[in-house]
Amino acid sequence: MVSIKPMMILIILGLCLILECGKAELPRFEHPIKPDGSLSLLVVGDWGRRGLFNQSQVAAQMGKMGEEADVDFIVSTGDNFYDDGLTGINDPAFEESFTNVYLSPSLQKQWYIVLGNHDYRGDVLAQLDPILTQKDKRWFCMRSYVLNTDVAEFFFLDTTPFSDKYFSDPDHTYDWRGILPREEYLSNLLKDLDTALKQSTSNWKIVIGHHTIRSGGYHGNTVELENRLLPILQVTTSDN
Ligand SMILES: *[C@@H]1O[C@H](CO)[C@@H](O)[C@H](O)[C@H]1NC(C)=O
Repeated sequence: MVSIKPMMILIILGLCLILECGKAELPRFEHPIKPDGSLSLLVVGDWGRRGLFNQSQVAAQMGKMGEEADVDFIVSTGDNFYDDGLTGINDPAFEESFTNVYLSPSLQKQWYIVLGNHDYRGDVLAQLDPILTQKDKRWFCMRSYVLNTDVAEFFFLDTTPFSDKYFSDPDHTYDWRGILPREEYLSNLLKDLDTALKQSTSNWKIVIGHHTIRSGGYHGNTVELENRLLPILQVTTSDN
């Protein structure tokens, strides 16, 4: 029996060599550009309020802008459902805050979505569940992924787990399934982003996440992103 353990370790090591363990890559997707070589998109974040708090008015203006600019897709930077994300895949907030709010014809495009901190306060896996895409085919939400187009490459990044304050927030509970152990998640994510940025040959590399790295706004800078994300972006820039 004693010899089984080293044997298993050897087998696992062997498997790792074959499968290249730890070389997980960000999932990649493609979106076509217009025949004239252009790409047009709208970006919105902090929105899901069942049409209230002027969400419906903003949606109507997005509809007008979307038509004028003939948008190809819409990006959501997270906080998709206030205050506490979705309770599950059958939470009516999905229809009340998304499907039934963004009604303009120009907004009936693909939405590329990431999570915000408020989304982590609900059933986080619900927003990532492909069943939502069956309910509304515009919905596409993953934690982190790459979207390639012939004009620009977009790197969607799950920024919430970087922020220490959510891990010591006495007032709310967060759904950290899929995130723990946290440090392993963050370092893998940064490594995968770094690799993807370095591999990219696109003229425009656009990194999208919920939290600002630097901001003069109410929330200010996100120090964890300044420390850990910004250096990756800067190195990538000076490399090229
Ligand atoms: C909606 O927008 C109007 C006009 O800007 C503003 O007066 C009102 O306070 C807003 N309502 C809410 C709930 O934010």
